[in-house]
Amino acid sequence: MIDFSKKDIIFLAPLAGYTDLPFRSVVKKFGVDVTVSEMISANALIYNSARTFKMLEKSPMEIPYIVQIAAGSPEVAQKAVEILNDIEGIDGIDLNCGCPAPKVVGQSCGSSLLEDLPQLSRIVETIKKYSNKEYTSVKTRLGFNEKYPDKIALACENAGADYVTFHGRTRAGRYKSEIDYDAIKEAKDAVKIPVIANGDITTLEIANHVKAYTGCDGIMIGRGAIGNPWLFYQIKNGLKSVKKEMIKEIVLEHFDAMVNFYGDKGVTIFRKHLHTYSKSMSNASLFRDKINRIDCQVLMREEIEAFFSQ
Ligand SMILES: Cc1cc2nc3c(=O)[nH]c(=O)nc-3n(C[C@H](O)[C@H](O)[C@H](O)COP(=O)(O)O)c2cc1C
Repeated sequence: MIDFSKKDIIFLAPLAGYTDLPFRSVVKKFGVDVTVSEMISANALIYNSARTFKMLEKSPMEIPYIVQIAAGSPEVAQKAVEILNDIEGIDGIDLNCGCPAPKVVGQSCGSSLLEDLPQLSRIVETIKKYSNKEYTSVKTRLGFNEKYPDKIALACENAGADYVTFHGRTRAGRYKSEIDYDAIKEAKDAVKIPVIANGDITTLEIANHVKAYTGCDGIMIGRGAIGNPWLFYQIKNGLKSVKKEMIKEIVLEHFDAMVNFYGDKGVTIFRKHLHTYSKSMSNASLFRDKINRIDCQVLMREEIEAFFSQ
């Protein structure tokens, strides 16, 4: 289903609070090969949280669709997998081994697993054993404080992961330290399973450089796509820019998808996306001031239409 042999697979990174169903359905049109849910707490699934089940929903266009879980033990992972097994349309389960948030690390989840690779392996083995989905994968950083990408990649491979994605920072590097593409290459060279490179890929040029430099089987893009979902279209088609009219159409389509999914609440949630869509356009700060005070769907749509027609 994911043809890694092409070596040009593009994933949309999971970004909690951003890559929800409406955003994923917009980017899917631009040539993204694989979409991933926002991080889903395995415990929340087990406790039957309605909000968490809503986060699992996907658009029919999302094939293949991967659900990412955060789990701190094989027992919790098994229960979450058994719940996901009953949900159709999910093509893989990804284990989050990268989240640096103290709350997540404090529950022995996310990047905390990088301090205990045997435990990470046990959880991956459990997902692989109990899941009825096509793929078992891991999204990780290069290490907790130090970098040991080869060891992490091998632990994932030996535990049965089908592919692994490396965000080229340690947990200590949070979201700011310089991305280490050499270390991602080290991971790629250590294993036979496909390795996906992630971190600071924001342009066609960087995408091409990362692919060639690391030799990875694909790339994953997160923040570079926020306010810029057509980046995938540019990368797939080797284009440096897109037409203004296309931008207006996409912003409106994204807005409509938000309202469809969240109802009236979608209007206020969409403000953060409008902030990035309008960045670097003239009169952007005036526009932001205005939309920060609008709650009404109709008024918001009119403002968007007027601003992006300029
Ligand atoms: C706001 C935000 C939310 C994120 N949420 C998740 C998440 O739910 N799961 C995950 O594996 N990584 C998450 N990440 C990390 C990204 O998936 C990605 O690894 C990181 O941002 C580096 O890639 P980028 O430079 O392309 O954004 C998040 C990052 C940000 C900034």
